[in-house]
Amino acid sequence: MKVSLKKHWLVKPAEPTWNGTVSLSECDQTFSLVHVPTIYYYRLCHDCDTSIIKTSLSKALVHFYPLAGRLRWIEGSRLELDCDASGVVLMEAETNAKLDDLGDFSLSPDYSISLFPRVDYTIPIDELPLLFVQLTKFQCGGIALSFAISHAVVDGQSALCFLFEWARLALGEPLMSAPVHDRKVLRAGEPAIRPPTFEHLQFNPPPLLIGKSSTEYEKKNVTKGSMLKLTKNQVEMLRKKANQGRNLEDNKERSYTRYEVVTAHIWRCACKARGHKFEKPTNLSICIDIRNRMNPPLPKPYFGNAIIDVVATGVSGDIASGPLECAARRVRTAIEMVTSDYINSVINFLKKQEDLSKYQDIHAIRSEDGPSYDNPNLAVTSWISLPLLGLDFGWGKEIYMSPGIEYDGDCVILPGNEGHGSLIVAIGLQADHGEAFKKFFYEDIKC
Ligand code: COA
Repeated sequence: MKVSLKKHWLVKPAEPTWNGTVSLSECDQTFSLVHVPTIYYYRLCHDCDTSIIKTSLSKALVHFYPLAGRLRWIEGSRLELDCDASGVVLMEAETNAKLDDLGDFSLSPDYSISLFPRVDYTIPIDELPLLFVQLTKFQCGGIALSFAISHAVVDGQSALCFLFEWARLALGEPLMSAPVHDRKVLRAGEPAIRPPTFEHLQFNPPPLLIGKSSTEYEKKNVTKGSMLKLTKNQVEMLRKKANQGRNLEDNKERSYTRYEVVTAHIWRCACKARGHKFEKPTNLSICIDIRNRMNPPLPKPYFGNAIIDVVATGVSGDIASGPLECAARRVRTAIEMVTSDYINSVINFLKKQEDLSKYQDIHAIRSEDGPSYDNPNLAVTSWISLPLLGLDFGWGKEIYMSPGIEYDGDCVILPGNEGHGSLIVAIGLQADHGEAFKKFFYEDIKC
């Protein structure tokens, strides 16, 4: 499959927008600072007119002007956002393939075939656009619309809010609701005042493989993304297994959620597939939406990052050979820690750091070794309740959407398209581990 880039534009807001510098919150500046890729596929749209996309994008940027700005490094490896309307990149491409050549979309889209915008991290950060959009036309008339959006500026919830509002503008409809740009609600720019009141394991260096002193050796291995489907029955089978022996009758215990059981299952299968030694420590990183966990909750729709990461920890042998409930319990315990006080303690912890660089996962942006999910660790992010589906720019709803999974140990759980309750697990693993993972993933559901 060959993809050729035909045209590209720098799209700026259609009207003058607020101009100035914005302090980013601690949630914005830590963990993943790369551009997050997603892709939507549409069947038959012979009249696909890129100018509608371009004009509506320009209108959307009036409301979502931070995306048209540029980041800037400041003291202590911190970032601030210059809202200067520099613009975002829109590209038009063509491929010699048909959508059917992608089969059932069960392979996570391959970056090398360029259906995604490639972000060139050799460009200085203060010149690097925060949003790249690529519209690729297939021979059958189908199209793929892909996005790479800076995680330093928005999280998944905010990125989707932008995409769906942009689509409404493309259809000639008004905005559903104006985004809230006040990052001070997450204490952005406030000086460090109070010390943290909790222990924050997520900020310790993640475990390495036994006998190794960095993850560089793991990063050299080729990573492959896969999309594994789970029917509602399979998910419920896992839920039943994890809940076995628990007292759910009189509400003494709360049934495990789909995220908790599927994440526990993924963790077990990854430990087995990676062939860890029994005593190998492994971290599972969980991304938590804090909008409704804060007291008071954040104003809606807050535009920025309102997420923090926590970790569930374990020893590989216990996770892989213990019952599913054991891993699910660790996942739940980590999630239940996250109260409003805990979130404020995370913010206090980060504010007190003179240099944030060791808490930034910037793989491609800098050469230093930041925290990573590489073997023996995993990060499983839930997109289960995100409003992902039904993105219509005027050529109907997508037939499929998918995250771009690029890194070893990076995993997203999203709603499946095989009926309510079904799920898809998008996971990146080293090529040697991927096949074994798939085998354990389905084998363990049978028994
Ligand atoms: N619509 C429909 N159902 C919803 C819902 C929504 N908006 N929100 C929650 N639910 C359902 C869930 O599906 C779940 O039911 P299930 O067991 O049948 O799946 C139940 O309510 C509990 O959901 P939740 O409280 O979210 O717990 P969880 O275990 O599913 O997920 C977290 C736990 C921590 C992962 C989740 O609360 C979270 O913070 N997700 C992050 C989402 C996010 O921002 N992702 C992008 C990051 S960039």
